[in-house]
Amino acid sequence: MTELHLWLRHEVRSTERRTPIVPPDARRLVDSGVTLTVEESPQRIFPIEEYEAAGARVAPAGSWVSAPDDAVVVGLKELPDAPDRLTHRHVFFGHAYKRQPGAAGLLGRFAAGGGALLDLEYLVDEDGRRLAAFGFWAGYLGAALAVLRHRGRLKAPLVPTAKEELDERLRPAAGDEEFTALVIGALGRSGRGARVAFAAAGTEPTCWDLAETRDLDRPALLAHDVMVNAVLATTPVPPFLRDEDLDDPARRLRTLCDVTCDVGSPLNVLPVYDRTTDWTEPARRLREDPPLDLIAIDNLPSLLPKESSTDFSAALLPQLLDFATGAPWARCLDRFHQACRELGIAEGEFRHV
Ligand SMILES: NC(=O)c1ccc[n+]([C@@H]2O[C@H](COP(=O)([O-])OP(=O)(O)OC[C@H]3O[C@@H](n4cnc5c(N)ncnc54)[C@H](O)[C@@H]3O)[C@@H](O)[C@H]2O)c1
Repeated sequence: MTELHLWLRHEVRSTERRTPIVPPDARRLVDSGVTLTVEESPQRIFPIEEYEAAGARVAPAGSWVSAPDDAVVVGLKELPDAPDRLTHRHVFFGHAYKRQPGAAGLLGRFAAGGGALLDLEYLVDEDGRRLAAFGFWAGYLGAALAVLRHRGRLKAPLVPTAKEELDERLRPAAGDEEFTALVIGALGRSGRGARVAFAAAGTEPTCWDLAETRDLDRPALLAHDVMVNAVLATTPVPPFLRDEDLDDPARRLRTLCDVTCDVGSPLNVLPVYDRTTDWTEPARRLREDPPLDLIAIDNLPSLLPKESSTDFSAALLPQLLDFATGAPWARCLDRFHQACRELGIAEGEFRHV
Protein backbone atom coordinates (compact mmCIF):
# COMPACT_ATOMS: atom_id res chain seq x y z
CA MET A 1 0.00 0.00 0.00
CA THR A 2 1.36 3.45 -0.88
CA GLU A 3 1.87 5.95 1.88
CA LEU A 4 -0.77 8.67 2.17
CA HIS A 5 0.34 12.09 0.95
CA LEU A 6 -1.97 14.96 1.96
CA TRP A 7 -1.48 18.37 0.36
CA LEU A 8 -3.11 21.25 2.28
CA ARG A 9 -3.75 23.98 -0.25
CA HIS A 10 -3.98 27.76 -0.05
CA GLU A 11 -7.57 29.11 -0.27
CA VAL A 12 -8.15 31.42 -3.21
CA ARG A 13 -10.85 33.51 -1.52
CA SER A 14 -9.07 36.41 0.19
CA THR A 15 -11.45 36.52 3.19
CA GLU A 16 -11.10 32.80 3.83
CA ARG A 17 -8.82 32.50 6.84
CA ARG A 18 -9.99 29.04 7.94
CA THR A 19 -8.21 25.78 7.32
CA PRO A 20 -9.39 22.15 7.53
CA ILE A 21 -6.14 21.03 9.23
CA VAL A 22 -4.70 23.01 12.17
CA PRO A 23 -1.02 22.68 13.18
CA PRO A 24 -1.49 20.32 16.20
CA ASP A 25 -3.46 17.95 13.97
CA ALA A 26 -0.82 18.33 11.26
CA ARG A 27 1.63 16.95 13.82
CA ARG A 28 -0.68 14.01 14.58
CA LEU A 29 -0.82 13.20 10.86
CA VAL A 30 2.94 13.42 10.43
CA ASP A 31 3.52 11.32 13.57
CA SER A 32 1.25 8.63 12.13
CA GLY A 33 3.35 8.37 8.99
CA VAL A 34 1.35 10.62 6.66
CA THR A 35 3.37 12.81 4.30
CA LEU A 36 1.92 16.29 4.68
CA THR A 37 2.69 19.19 2.37
CA VAL A 38 1.29 22.59 3.37
CA GLU A 39 1.10 25.47 0.92
CA GLU A 40 2.11 28.93 2.05
CA SER A 41 -1.01 31.04 2.46
CA PRO A 42 -0.78 34.62 3.69
CA GLN A 43 -4.32 34.85 5.04
CA ARG A 44 -4.52 31.48 6.79
CA ILE A 45 -5.07 32.09 10.51
CA PHE A 46 -2.18 29.76 11.44
CA PRO A 47 1.31 30.79 10.25
CA ILE A 48 3.21 28.40 7.99
CA GLU A 49 6.00 28.13 10.60
CA GLU A 50 3.63 26.21 12.90
CA TYR A 51 3.06 23.60 10.19
CA GLU A 52 6.76 23.42 9.47
CA ALA A 53 7.47 22.88 13.16
CA ALA A 54 4.88 20.08 13.09
CA GLY A 55 6.94 18.26 10.46
CA ALA A 56 5.08 19.30 7.32
CA ARG A 57 6.81 20.10 4.04
CA VAL A 58 6.21 23.63 2.78
CA ALA A 59 5.24 24.48 -0.81
CA PRO A 60 4.25 27.72 -2.58
CA ALA A 61 0.59 28.76 -2.78
CA GLY A 62 -1.22 27.03 -5.64
CA SER A 63 1.53 24.49 -6.29
CA TRP A 64 -0.89 21.56 -5.84
CA VAL A 65 -1.38 21.61 -9.62
CA SER A 66 2.04 19.98 -9.96
CA ALA A 67 1.80 17.78 -6.85
CA PRO A 68 2.57 14.08 -7.29
CA ASP A 69 -0.39 12.22 -8.80
CA ASP A 70 -1.14 10.27 -5.66
CA ALA A 71 -1.32 13.35 -3.40
CA VAL A 72 -4.76 14.07 -1.98
CA VAL A 73 -5.35 17.82 -2.13
CA VAL A 74 -7.24 19.15 0.91
CA GLY A 75 -8.97 22.54 1.12
CA LEU A 76 -12.27 24.11 2.14
CA LYS A 77 -13.74 26.25 -0.58
CA GLU A 78 -13.58 26.74 -4.32
CA LEU A 79 -10.61 25.86 -6.55
CA PRO A 80 -9.10 28.44 -8.88
CA ASP A 81 -10.51 28.42 -12.44
CA ALA A 82 -7.38 26.78 -13.88
CA PRO A 83 -6.33 24.13 -14.78
CA ASP A 84 -9.09 22.73 -16.99
CA ARG A 85 -8.22 19.13 -16.18
CA LEU A 86 -8.15 18.06 -12.55
CA THR A 87 -6.05 14.96 -12.10
CA HIS A 88 -5.91 14.64 -8.29
CA ARG A 89 -8.35 13.58 -5.64
CA HIS A 90 -9.58 16.76 -3.94
CA VAL A 91 -11.21 17.04 -0.52
CA PHE A 92 -13.26 20.27 -0.12
CA PHE A 93 -16.79 21.71 -0.20
CA GLY A 94 -17.58 21.64 -3.90
CA HIS A 95 -21.23 22.80 -3.75
CA ALA A 96 -21.73 20.93 -7.00
CA TYR A 97 -24.26 18.16 -6.33
CA LYS A 98 -27.45 20.21 -6.22
CA ARG A 99 -27.20 21.67 -9.71
CA GLN A 100 -25.68 24.87 -8.36
CA PRO A 101 -24.31 27.37 -10.90
CA GLY A 102 -20.94 26.10 -12.11
CA ALA A 103 -21.55 22.52 -10.92
CA ALA A 104 -21.30 20.90 -14.34
CA GLY A 105 -18.16 22.90 -15.12
CA LEU A 106 -16.39 21.76 -11.96
CA LEU A 107 -17.38 18.10 -12.28
CA GLY A 108 -16.44 18.23 -15.97
CA ARG A 109 -12.91 19.33 -15.00
CA PHE A 110 -12.57 16.28 -12.74
CA ALA A 111 -13.97 13.98 -15.40
CA ALA A 112 -11.55 15.38 -18.00
CA GLY A 113 -8.52 14.83 -15.77
CA GLY A 114 -9.49 11.52 -14.16
CA GLY A 115 -9.43 13.07 -10.67
CA ALA A 116 -12.22 13.02 -8.10
CA LEU A 117 -14.05 15.35 -5.74
CA LEU A 118 -14.43 13.95 -2.22
CA ASP A 119 -16.96 16.50 -1.04
CA LEU A 120 -16.81 17.28 2.69
CA GLU A 121 -20.54 17.93 2.79
CA TYR A 122 -21.05 14.26 1.89
CA LEU A 123 -18.53 12.82 4.33
CA VAL A 124 -21.12 11.01 6.43
CA ASP A 125 -21.45 8.04 8.76
CA GLU A 126 -23.60 5.00 7.94
CA ASP A 127 -26.72 6.89 9.11
CA GLY A 128 -26.01 9.82 6.81
CA ARG A 129 -24.83 12.15 9.62
CA ARG A 130 -22.17 14.68 8.66
CA LEU A 131 -18.78 13.87 10.21
CA ALA A 132 -17.18 17.32 9.98
CA ALA A 133 -19.18 20.56 9.85
CA PHE A 134 -18.97 24.23 10.76
CA GLY A 135 -22.60 24.54 11.93
CA PHE A 136 -22.00 25.27 15.61
CA TRP A 137 -19.98 28.41 14.91
CA ALA A 138 -22.40 29.53 12.19
CA GLY A 139 -25.22 29.49 14.73
CA TYR A 140 -23.10 31.11 17.43
CA LEU A 141 -22.13 33.96 15.09
CA GLY A 142 -25.62 34.33 13.64
CA ALA A 143 -27.12 34.82 17.09
CA ALA A 144 -24.22 37.03 18.21
CA LEU A 145 -24.61 39.38 15.23
CA ALA A 146 -28.39 39.45 15.75
CA VAL A 147 -27.94 40.49 19.39
CA LEU A 148 -25.42 43.19 18.49
CA ARG A 149 -27.72 44.52 15.78
CA HIS A 150 -30.71 44.44 18.11
CA ARG A 151 -28.76 46.50 20.64
CA GLY A 152 -27.58 48.92 17.95
CA ARG A 153 -23.95 47.86 18.33
CA LEU A 154 -23.19 46.01 15.07
CA LYS A 155 -20.28 47.67 13.29
CA ALA A 156 -19.66 47.26 9.56
CA PRO A 157 -17.66 45.98 7.83
CA LEU A 158 -17.36 42.81 9.89
CA VAL A 159 -13.85 41.56 10.57
CA PRO A 160 -12.65 38.18 11.87
CA THR A 161 -12.39 38.12 15.63
CA ALA A 162 -11.84 35.76 18.59
CA LYS A 163 -14.55 34.19 20.73
CA GLU A 164 -13.45 35.90 23.98
CA GLU A 165 -13.72 39.28 22.29
CA LEU A 166 -17.17 38.49 20.94
CA ASP A 167 -18.38 37.12 24.30
CA GLU A 168 -17.22 40.36 25.88
CA ARG A 169 -19.20 42.40 23.34
CA LEU A 170 -22.28 40.23 23.95
CA ARG A 171 -22.35 40.79 27.71
CA PRO A 172 -25.31 43.07 28.56
CA ALA A 173 -24.27 46.64 29.38
CA ALA A 174 -26.03 49.07 31.70
CA GLY A 175 -29.12 50.40 29.97
CA ASP A 176 -29.53 47.43 27.60
CA GLU A 177 -33.18 46.44 27.41
CA GLU A 178 -34.14 42.81 27.90
CA PHE A 179 -35.37 41.03 24.79
CA THR A 180 -36.97 37.72 23.88
CA ALA A 181 -35.34 35.40 21.36
CA LEU A 182 -36.41 32.36 19.34
CA VAL A 183 -34.15 29.73 17.75
CA ILE A 184 -35.71 27.45 15.13
CA GLY A 185 -33.70 24.32 14.41
CA ALA A 186 -32.57 24.53 18.03
CA LEU A 187 -31.54 20.87 18.31
CA GLY A 188 -29.04 21.00 15.46
CA ARG A 189 -25.39 22.10 15.39
CA SER A 190 -26.16 25.73 14.44
CA GLY A 191 -29.10 25.80 16.84
CA ARG A 192 -26.83 24.80 19.71
CA GLY A 193 -24.34 27.49 18.77
CA ALA A 194 -27.12 30.09 18.68
CA ARG A 195 -28.27 29.06 22.16
CA VAL A 196 -24.74 29.46 23.52
CA ALA A 197 -24.45 32.98 22.07
CA PHE A 198 -27.83 34.00 23.48
CA ALA A 199 -26.76 32.67 26.89
CA ALA A 200 -23.59 34.82 26.66
CA ALA A 201 -25.88 37.77 25.91
CA GLY A 202 -27.89 37.04 29.05
CA THR A 203 -31.06 35.64 27.50
CA GLU A 204 -32.64 32.19 27.44
CA PRO A 205 -34.19 31.72 23.97
CA THR A 206 -37.36 29.83 23.11
CA CYS A 207 -36.23 26.67 21.31
CA TRP A 208 -38.21 25.15 18.47
CA ASP A 209 -37.31 22.20 16.31
CA LEU A 210 -39.35 19.83 14.11
CA ALA A 211 -42.00 19.07 16.76
CA GLU A 212 -42.77 22.75 17.38
CA THR A 213 -43.02 23.82 13.73
CA ARG A 214 -45.22 20.96 12.56
CA ASP A 215 -48.28 23.05 13.43
CA LEU A 216 -46.62 26.44 13.14
CA ASP A 217 -47.81 29.17 15.53
CA ARG A 218 -46.85 32.32 13.57
CA PRO A 219 -48.32 34.77 16.12
CA ALA A 220 -46.07 33.16 18.76
CA LEU A 221 -43.09 33.47 16.39
CA LEU A 222 -43.84 37.15 15.73
CA ALA A 223 -44.10 37.81 19.46
CA HIS A 224 -40.31 37.39 19.87
CA ASP A 225 -37.94 40.35 19.47
CA VAL A 226 -35.12 38.39 17.82
CA MET A 227 -35.27 35.21 15.78
CA VAL A 228 -32.54 32.92 14.43
CA ASN A 229 -33.40 30.36 11.76
CA ALA A 230 -30.96 27.44 11.86
CA VAL A 231 -32.93 24.62 10.23
CA LEU A 232 -31.51 22.19 7.73
CA ALA A 233 -34.50 21.75 5.44
CA THR A 234 -34.60 18.54 3.44
CA THR A 235 -38.23 18.60 2.30
CA PRO A 236 -40.40 21.64 1.53
CA VAL A 237 -42.47 22.88 4.51
CA PRO A 238 -44.82 25.90 4.78
CA PRO A 239 -42.74 29.08 5.17
CA PHE A 240 -42.06 30.27 8.71
CA LEU A 241 -42.61 33.88 7.58
CA ARG A 242 -44.45 35.38 4.62
CA ASP A 243 -44.58 38.99 3.46
CA GLU A 244 -47.96 39.50 5.12
CA ASP A 245 -46.49 38.41 8.47
CA LEU A 246 -43.92 41.19 8.27
CA ASP A 247 -46.80 43.65 7.85
CA ASP A 248 -48.74 42.22 10.80
CA PRO A 249 -49.36 45.17 13.16
CA ALA A 250 -48.92 42.83 16.14
CA ARG A 251 -45.34 41.97 15.08
CA ARG A 252 -42.77 42.40 17.87
CA LEU A 253 -40.01 40.84 15.77
CA ARG A 254 -37.28 43.41 15.05
CA THR A 255 -34.21 41.34 14.16
CA LEU A 256 -34.18 38.23 11.99
CA CYS A 257 -31.03 36.20 11.35
CA ASP A 258 -31.23 33.47 8.71
CA VAL A 259 -28.27 31.17 9.30
CA THR A 260 -29.70 28.66 6.85
CA CYS A 261 -29.54 31.10 3.89
CA ASP A 262 -31.56 28.93 1.49
CA VAL A 263 -32.57 32.03 -0.49
CA GLY A 264 -33.82 31.08 -3.96
CA SER A 265 -34.21 27.40 -3.10
CA PRO A 266 -37.57 25.56 -3.15
CA LEU A 267 -36.73 24.53 0.44
CA ASN A 268 -36.47 28.12 1.69
CA VAL A 269 -38.49 28.62 4.89
CA LEU A 270 -37.99 32.42 4.88
CA PRO A 271 -39.11 33.62 1.42
CA VAL A 272 -39.27 37.24 2.64
CA TYR A 273 -36.00 38.38 1.09
CA ASP A 274 -34.22 37.75 -2.20
CA ARG A 275 -30.50 38.22 -1.53
CA THR A 276 -28.08 37.48 1.25
CA THR A 277 -26.21 40.12 3.23
CA ASP A 278 -22.42 40.12 3.64
CA TRP A 279 -19.51 41.36 5.74
CA THR A 280 -19.72 44.86 4.24
CA GLU A 281 -23.48 45.14 4.66
CA PRO A 282 -24.27 42.64 7.43
CA ALA A 283 -27.83 43.82 8.08
CA ARG A 284 -30.54 45.06 5.74
CA ARG A 285 -33.81 46.72 6.70
CA LEU A 286 -36.81 44.74 5.46
CA ARG A 287 -39.54 46.91 7.01
CA GLU A 288 -39.51 50.43 8.40
CA ASP A 289 -42.46 50.88 10.70
CA PRO A 290 -41.95 49.10 12.98
CA PRO A 291 -38.42 48.24 11.86
CA LEU A 292 -37.29 44.74 10.93
CA ASP A 293 -33.66 44.01 10.14
CA LEU A 294 -32.34 40.95 8.33
CA ILE A 295 -28.93 39.30 8.70
CA ALA A 296 -28.31 36.51 6.15
CA ILE A 297 -24.57 35.91 5.78
CA ASP A 298 -23.51 32.65 4.15
CA ASN A 299 -19.93 32.46 5.45
CA LEU A 300 -20.41 33.12 9.15
CA PRO A 301 -17.80 30.69 10.57
CA SER A 302 -15.02 32.54 8.71
CA LEU A 303 -15.53 35.34 11.26
CA LEU A 304 -14.09 33.06 13.97
CA PRO A 305 -11.37 31.37 11.90
CA LYS A 306 -9.33 29.94 14.76
CA GLU A 307 -12.13 28.34 16.76
CA SER A 308 -14.04 27.07 13.75
CA SER A 309 -10.88 25.61 12.12
CA THR A 310 -9.83 23.92 15.36
CA ASP A 311 -13.20 22.17 15.81
CA PHE A 312 -13.49 21.22 12.16
CA SER A 313 -9.94 19.85 12.06
CA ALA A 314 -10.58 17.78 15.21
CA ALA A 315 -13.57 16.16 13.53
CA LEU A 316 -11.76 15.60 10.24
CA LEU A 317 -8.52 14.20 11.71
CA PRO A 318 -9.80 10.65 12.51
CA GLN A 319 -11.24 10.46 9.00
CA LEU A 320 -7.94 11.54 7.44
CA LEU A 321 -6.06 8.99 9.55
CA ASP A 322 -8.44 6.38 8.12
CA PHE A 323 -8.27 7.67 4.55
CA ALA A 324 -7.11 4.45 2.88
CA THR A 325 -9.87 2.20 4.16
CA GLY A 326 -12.56 4.46 5.65
CA ALA A 327 -16.12 3.72 4.50
CA PRO A 328 -17.06 7.44 4.61
CA TRP A 329 -14.52 8.16 1.85
CA ALA A 330 -15.88 5.30 -0.24
CA ARG A 331 -19.36 6.84 0.16
CA CYS A 332 -17.95 10.23 -0.86
CA LEU A 333 -16.43 8.76 -4.00
CA ASP A 334 -19.67 6.96 -4.89
CA ARG A 335 -21.55 10.24 -4.45
CA PHE A 336 -19.11 11.96 -6.83
CA HIS A 337 -19.62 9.34 -9.56
CA GLN A 338 -23.39 9.52 -9.01
CA ALA A 339 -23.34 13.33 -9.38
CA CYS A 340 -21.40 13.02 -12.65
CA ARG A 341 -23.97 10.54 -13.96
CA GLU A 342 -26.88 12.78 -12.89
CA LEU A 343 -25.40 15.67 -14.84
CA GLY A 344 -24.69 13.46 -17.83
CA ILE A 345 -20.94 14.01 -17.51
CA ALA A 346 -19.04 11.25 -19.22
CA GLU A 347 -16.08 10.28 -17.08
CA GLY A 348 -12.92 9.18 -18.81
CA GLU A 349 -10.51 6.88 -17.09
CA PHE A 350 -10.61 7.32 -13.32
CA ARG A 351 -6.95 7.52 -12.32
CA HIS A 352 -7.20 6.47 -8.70
CA VAL A 353 -8.11 3.03 -7.42
N1 LIG B 1 -24.62 30.82 7.16
C1 LIG B 1 -23.54 30.07 7.27
O1 LIG B 1 -22.42 30.54 7.25
C2 LIG B 1 -23.71 28.58 7.49
C3 LIG B 1 -22.60 27.82 7.87
C4 LIG B 1 -22.79 26.46 8.15
C5 LIG B 1 -24.05 25.89 7.97
N2 LIG B 1 -25.09 26.68 7.54
C6 LIG B 1 -26.44 26.13 7.32
O2 LIG B 1 -27.11 26.08 8.56
C7 LIG B 1 -28.16 25.09 8.46
C8 LIG B 1 -28.13 24.21 9.68
O3 LIG B 1 -26.93 23.46 9.69
P1 LIG B 1 -26.62 22.46 10.89
O4 LIG B 1 -25.23 21.97 10.69
O5 LIG B 1 -26.98 23.10 12.18
O6 LIG B 1 -27.68 21.29 10.58
P2 LIG B 1 -28.17 20.18 11.59
O7 LIG B 1 -28.63 19.05 10.74
O8 LIG B 1 -27.17 19.92 12.67
O9 LIG B 1 -29.45 20.84 12.32
C9 LIG B 1 -30.60 21.23 11.64
C10 LIG B 1 -31.78 21.21 12.61
O10 LIG B 1 -32.91 21.71 11.91
C11 LIG B 1 -34.02 20.95 12.32
N3 LIG B 1 -35.09 21.12 11.34
C12 LIG B 1 -35.15 20.68 10.06
N4 LIG B 1 -36.30 21.03 9.50
C13 LIG B 1 -37.00 21.73 10.43
C14 LIG B 1 -38.27 22.35 10.45
N5 LIG B 1 -39.08 22.33 9.38
N6 LIG B 1 -38.67 22.96 11.60
C15 LIG B 1 -37.87 22.98 12.69
N7 LIG B 1 -36.66 22.41 12.73
C16 LIG B 1 -36.23 21.78 11.62
C17 LIG B 1 -33.49 19.53 12.44
O11 LIG B 1 -34.35 18.69 13.20
C18 LIG B 1 -32.14 19.80 13.12
O12 LIG B 1 -32.25 19.79 14.52
C19 LIG B 1 -27.88 24.33 7.16
O13 LIG B 1 -28.80 24.76 6.19
C20 LIG B 1 -26.48 24.73 6.80
O14 LIG B 1 -26.26 24.71 5.40
C21 LIG B 1 -24.94 28.00 7.31
